[in-house]
Amino acid sequence: MTTERSFPEGFLWGAATAAYQVEGAVTEGGRGVSIWDTFSHTPGRTFNGDNGDVACQHYKYVEEDLDLMKRLGLRAYRFSIAWPRLQPDGKGPANQAGLDFYRRLVAGVRQRGMLPVATLYHWDLPQALEDVGGWTVRDTCDRFAEYTQIAADALADDVGMWITLNEPWCSAWLGYGIGAHAPGHADPAMAVLATHHLLLAHARGTEVLRRSTRVPVGITLNLGGRIPASDHELDVAAAWREDGLFNRLYLDPLFKGKYPEDMLQFAAASRAAFDDAVEPGDLAAIGQPVDFLGVNYYNTIVVADPGRLPEARQAGFSVPPGGQASALGTVIVGRPALERTAANWEIDSGGLTDILVRVADEYTKIPLYVTENGAAEDDYVGPDAVVHDPARIRYLQQHIQAAKNAIDRGVDLRGYFVWSLLDNFEWAEGYSLRFGLVWVDYPTGKRTAKDSYGWYRELIATNELPAPA
Ligand code: FCB
Repeated sequence: MTTERSFPEGFLWGAATAAYQVEGAVTEGGRGVSIWDTFSHTPGRTFNGDNGDVACQHYKYVEEDLDLMKRLGLRAYRFSIAWPRLQPDGKGPANQAGLDFYRRLVAGVRQRGMLPVATLYHWDLPQALEDVGGWTVRDTCDRFAEYTQIAADALADDVGMWITLNEPWCSAWLGYGIGAHAPGHADPAMAVLATHHLLLAHARGTEVLRRSTRVPVGITLNLGGRIPASDHELDVAAAWREDGLFNRLYLDPLFKGKYPEDMLQFAAASRAAFDDAVEPGDLAAIGQPVDFLGVNYYNTIVVADPGRLPEARQAGFSVPPGGQASALGTVIVGRPALERTAANWEIDSGGLTDILVRVADEYTKIPLYVTENGAAEDDYVGPDAVVHDPARIRYLQQHIQAAKNAIDRGVDLRGYFVWSLLDNFEWAEGYSLRFGLVWVDYPTGKRTAKDSYGWYRELIATNELPAPA
């Protein structure tokens, strides 16, 4: 019997991780240094000075982790390949130990009846490439193509789905625009260049994969609504600018073959550099068809014009102290009525339905996958040695229902991946945020399944959401 809570047959239930967040073993197997090694070892860059040197020791415990996935009943596992494991300096021949590790991982996923979903770039650029300009220079696109060729030669059709990039917005704007992530530059002009080169690298990587494999190729973007605090034209314009930087700057070139003109105006200071960077043929390459789009969804944000903060306050929004405008001339306001996760992100599951419907209506009819969604919560191992995480279960329940609502509205959504399988190194937040279905005790590496793990297993087994608690 199918109900409003049951999912289409074959719906791809998964969980996701990323190499630097889980693997550890940063000096083993000939791995080179990435920008995240450098960044996390730079004082003041990450919470508590945390780094990924050890992380979840997934490199060592890979078989145990695969068994955890199997017991969970996952249909797919999304992981990322560490570029510096395959090519320690970002160029030249492949590193055998790195190839062996990912071959073993992919084979282990297959042996357990799951689909391996490989992301080529989840933020760990070889430091040697950053030293010669990183994503601000065009040569990095060719280096990415070479790296992709190595990965494709080794794994090709054993991988079930290839994802070129994870969240280029984060790489460009957090990494080069404000410096909150590696490599830590705070220069919007660099972020604009990085955006173009990341998208061009996606194109080059896609071309390589097309020649080398027959499996679906796609890209993962982090998307989410940027909605105005009121229907006043100033708030509407402010929200549109935020939407431009977060959503349209990536969706438009990929699916409409052009950059959004208003965003290029924003980049006025760097416009000349940007115009120089975009060579004939680039946009056609970036707009080449892909087989699916991965959507990572965490939140939706309300935006006000800085001149309208009194009205926003009156309407019940919380206004950040100081209320200064961002570089875009916008202010992000809060919705006090909404619950928040431990990461202090507002929980707005309806926003997931909205963004999926928008992508399908305005951009593309190709299959969509939610390639990440999940919540950091204040977990702890109780006296009964169990981790009760009802808030995470509630979060997942609401968001998976929101995904179902999108399907019911005609969106061709094919799968959903929880972020994350394991608690792990949450970038600049270090180990302070736990997103896992499985608790990791970092000093020992011991794994403990949380209640949400059992909840998700049940959901996968029945292919149907339980009634909300
Ligand atoms: C996403 C990242 C992922 C993880 C989650 C919480 O932006 O892709 O690695 O950090 O956020």
